Amino acid sequence: MTGPQKSLRLQGPDADGIAILFIDCPGKKVNTLSLSLLPEFDAMYTAIGANSAIKGLVITSGKDSGFIAGADLDDLDQIKTTSDGERVSKQGQDGMSRLATMAIPTVAAIHGEALGGGLELALACRARVASEHRKTKLALPEVMLGLLPGAGGTVRLPKLVGLTAALDMMLTGRNIRAAKALKMGLVDRTVPQLQLLDAAKGLCRDLIHGKVAPKPKVPVKQELQSFLLERNPLGKRLVLSEARKKVLKQTKGMYPAPLKILDVIDKGTFEAEAKGFGELLVTPQSAGLRHLFAAITHLKKDDGPNTAGIAPRAIGRVGMLGAGLMGAGIATVLADNGVEVRLKDRDFGSISKALEYANKVYAKAKKKRVYGQAGIDERMARISGGLDWAGCGRADVLIEAVFEDLALKQRLLAEFEAVTQVGGIFATNTSSLPITEIASGAKHPERVIGMHFFSPVEKMPLVEIIVTDQTAPEVTATTVAVARKMGKHVIVVKDCAGFYTTRALVPYMTEAIFLSLDGYGLHDVDEAATRAGFPVGPITLMDEVGIDVGVKVLKVMRHYYGERMQFPPDVSSKLMEEGRMGRKNNKGFYKYEAGKSVLDKQGNKVIDDSVYKHLPGGKGTRAPDYAEMANRMILGLVNEAALCLQEGILRDAYAGDLGAVMGIGFPPFEGGPFRYADRIGAKALVERMRQLEAKFGKRFAPCRLLVDLATANGKFYA
Ligand code: NAI
Repeated sequence: MTGPQKSLRLQGPDADGIAILFIDCPGKKVNTLSLSLLPEFDAMYTAIGANSAIKGLVITSGKDSGFIAGADLDDLDQIKTTSDGERVSKQGQDGMSRLATMAIPTVAAIHGEALGGGLELALACRARVASEHRKTKLALPEVMLGLLPGAGGTVRLPKLVGLTAALDMMLTGRNIRAAKALKMGLVDRTVPQLQLLDAAKGLCRDLIHGKVAPKPKVPVKQELQSFLLERNPLGKRLVLSEARKKVLKQTKGMYPAPLKILDVIDKGTFEAEAKGFGELLVTPQSAGLRHLFAAITHLKKDDGPNTAGIAPRAIGRVGMLGAGLMGAGIATVLADNGVEVRLKDRDFGSISKALEYANKVYAKAKKKRVYGQAGIDERMARISGGLDWAGCGRADVLIEAVFEDLALKQRLLAEFEAVTQVGGIFATNTSSLPITEIASGAKHPERVIGMHFFSPVEKMPLVEIIVTDQTAPEVTATTVAVARKMGKHVIVVKDCAGFYTTRALVPYMTEAIFLSLDGYGLHDVDEAATRAGFPVGPITLMDEVGIDVGVKVLKVMRHYYGERMQFPPDVSSKLMEEGRMGRKNNKGFYKYEAGKSVLDKQGNKVIDDSVYKHLPGGKGTRAPDYAEMANRMILGLVNEAALCLQEGILRDAYAGDLGAVMGIGFPPFEGGPFRYADRIGAKALVERMRQLEAKFGKRFAPCRLLVDLATANGKFYA
């Protein structure tokens, strides 16, 4: 009879007395630390301690995929009380302490991701060696899940790398690559992947024989700074209070985790860490953020309808039609990810601007030392451009981002069909036009698909892929693969005007205008949205996207959806008549000079008074009621999201949640509109909407799915 498969395997000791502990969670692609593993670790440490032949221990992963990707989140989802959370943290700490207090030297050999609990395990070792592979990343990303490192990380990391660097890692969750990790003292050595185990054993041997590895020299300035700021209590206070101010400014106090991390580091004890972990684990913010993580994991496996068993085409070259704002961004990210891009526009000015754009983005990466000048040159060499179709005939995929004009897009699709030599895919980046209509005159409608990016492309993490009834599964799978190659999260939705994200965004944006017509100040409208957790308010967003772009999209939406997507039409036409386009022409709801926001003494953006002649209420004749204002903006969005699910535009609620958070800025800690609806409860949500409908009309009529759910007392996530 065989017992359950083990996750830990001990090899050796070798002639030097060094044993290697391999971690290899059975049946999983990556290693994660689950609570069920703790007894196995315990028994292993006991066995190692009892074996006097073992003089040193190297800990590494038995998987090529990486070291350890963090704690098992399923475990955490089961915990419902602060005290249970605290207990779990203590268990983790105890396991790490057993490792940290072993009598023999211990060395972690890290290749691939060492995240969260994985890095905490490495921190509990006496020393660390990392592979120089670009897949190697070290991070404590708990803050992104609304948590803090709860297995000793808050205590051990500051001791190892200093307070400032530790705070940066814990408050941002950022990935640290091998070279940087070496420089900051997070690891002791870096080597090519093939030498990892030998190097770790070598370091372990040095430690056994008391030859401590020399630490890299700290520059005098850094040493002085570290002494003044970190190693005396007054300095520590100062660093922490500055960090707190920064966090409060960035999060408006809506995210408890970074503040708790600061409290816990201030105390500097394992007890404080466990208590803080327990408190954070039961916050709604952490539940929302962990839900989002679950959505990401779920959607990584979704390549769209009928794609099971369909392999995507290998992508050699992509054509980029239209080198404007979006075309430039898309080309930049493609070339950054190793894809050759051929730009085509109607004028050279746009192409050279696009090249400048790419160069600027790459120069920023160089400044951050992600790569050097050679890295920029290599990327720029992948982008070429011209006015004719030369170079696009061989493109496997042509991404189209010309003006939002149906006839123009249709004409260019026909031209592409005439020149493609490889049966290329036509992926349109329209923001509102139905793909079926763009493809209506195509010879090969099965090769037409929507590929909706968000601006700025290099920063926004989402691509919405839109399939028609005719899109071939191979085309879907290939387009999804291109977006993933660009490092983006993907949702695949069914075709309709505005797809999912634009449809969900419109009620939120139009409600902002209705609010200001009702007498709420433009500034207050933005404030209501950011207080609710949106990264920017709708008025600011309209200026950023371009009011002209917004008005065009609204026209399309009104055409297809009628009353539900109403926007006071006289306001939009007046704004257009006077050429008010937003930041890009220094004339928006807010004031701009040479593309920069004009700020008042408090650092707030200043409204351009002249807009009040069209929106007199926007002056703020009513005292703001932020909760009520946010309610109005959010409920329309949630209802439209639910309609998209009802109509089968969305494949599931996860896609709706991820799409809204990553694409249109829905508050991340709410986990998305569907999770928000579950949190409020469908019944309460429908009641609120009925009240608003009685006051403001049909645009607040709850959709059938919400009403059914309210009647059945059901949830989107069972
Ligand atoms: P843009 O005006 O910056 O760029 C359009 C480019 O297309 C210009 O460089 C123009 O010269 C070129 N063009 C026009 N006619 C052409 C032709 N016949 N042949 C070749 N090139 C031609 O516009 P933007 O903002 O880049 O938008 C492009 C598309 O992306 C639109 O469909 C828009 O709705 C969509 N979109 C825009 C987003 C945004 O935030 N701006 C977000 C998502 C989608």
